[in-house]
Amino acid sequence: MDTILQVRDLVTKFYTLDGVVHAVNGVSFDLQQGETLAIVGESGCGKSVTVLSLLGLIPSPPGRVEQGSALFRTPFGQQDLLKLSREELREIRGGQIGFVFQDPISTLNPILTVGEQIKETLTRHLNLSQEEARERAIRLLADVGIPDPELRYKSYPFQLSGGMRQRVVIAIAIACNPQIVIADEPTTALDVTVQAQIIDLFQRLRSAMGMTLIWITHDLGVVAGLADRVMVMYGGRVVELAAVEELYQNPQHPYTRGLLDALPRLDSRETRRLVSIQGAPPDLRLPLRHCPFAWRCNYAYDHCWQEIPELVATAPDHQVACFYDLNKGAPRHG
Ligand SMILES: Nc1ncnc2c1ncn2[C@@H]1O[C@H](COP(=O)(O)OP(=O)(O)OP(=O)(O)O)[C@@H](O)[C@H]1O
Ligand SMILES: [Mg+2]
Repeated sequence: MDTILQVRDLVTKFYTLDGVVHAVNGVSFDLQQGETLAIVGESGCGKSVTVLSLLGLIPSPPGRVEQGSALFRTPFGQQDLLKLSREELREIRGGQIGFVFQDPISTLNPILTVGEQIKETLTRHLNLSQEEARERAIRLLADVGIPDPELRYKSYPFQLSGGMRQRVVIAIAIACNPQIVIADEPTTALDVTVQAQIIDLFQRLRSAMGMTLIWITHDLGVVAGLADRVMVMYGGRVVELAAVEELYQNPQHPYTRGLLDALPRLDSRETRRLVSIQGAPPDLRLPLRHCPFAWRCNYAYDHCWQEIPELVATAPDHQVACFYDLNKGAPRHG
């Protein structure tokens, strides 16, 4: 498989009055052409900061991408996203990399019709005439499942429902046939039925366009039908990375297991109480010298308090950062 994006050792910090927030601490992953990679983890674990760092969207100050590389393969060669100027990144955003954020309201301009906004993206990044861009914008509105696209082209964002607005944002994200689409919690602001429709839409677009997708969510339940691989983050680090079935069937990190145990089971007849993982996520302002999950982990032993575990491969498409082997029920080395 072809790697389209190779992120290595990404470090992003925020220099706040309350101290330095170590938001992303050495994140590495590969994104393969055509795959959907889900990034999951509790609130504050660094999912958004990871992708915002790649897109050059970290507010600075107080934020700073301090280290790392993000090699993005394009038809014109390979570029390190972290070395590009703001202008170069602006060209890539919306052009070669489309993105959909949680809240469609903040992405759309309230005083422009949705048609004008799609057209604006098209004419900025592609060499299209006004008429070609208009036709393509209407086609895009139809592609993302908006009824009466000709009519809706002339609507303002406030005239559309939340779900329809998110469809418009998706139309803008895919308008220029980007090589990667990044969706950061794109369904969180929507009600459950609309959430399911948007996930269906992504599934359909993914097969129709051969889309490469990064899907961020705090809900492992949403991931099953959509992702090929899953990256679990905790405390600004990757703690587990595996193919989706492998992760569900054989979670190797106690945190991942905790997330899976917390899912409501539709296949189970017994009514179980929803469990959630006890304790709070780590304070990212404190320097870390041990496993970030040790505080909350039922399996932590002395070594977990002495060193930060690195990601190691336990199978061809499975990496985990944990000193304890859940399958053996014993420390990995010892
Ligand atoms: N502008 C900022 N200033 C200071 N700290 C920030 C800023 N943006 C993010 N952070 C901190 O960086 C850490 C990672 O935040 P991030 O937004 O990536 O979390 P997340 O995993 O996306 O969570 P959520 O699921 O709530 O969206 C958090 O501790 C957060 O408080
Ligand atoms: Mg986020």
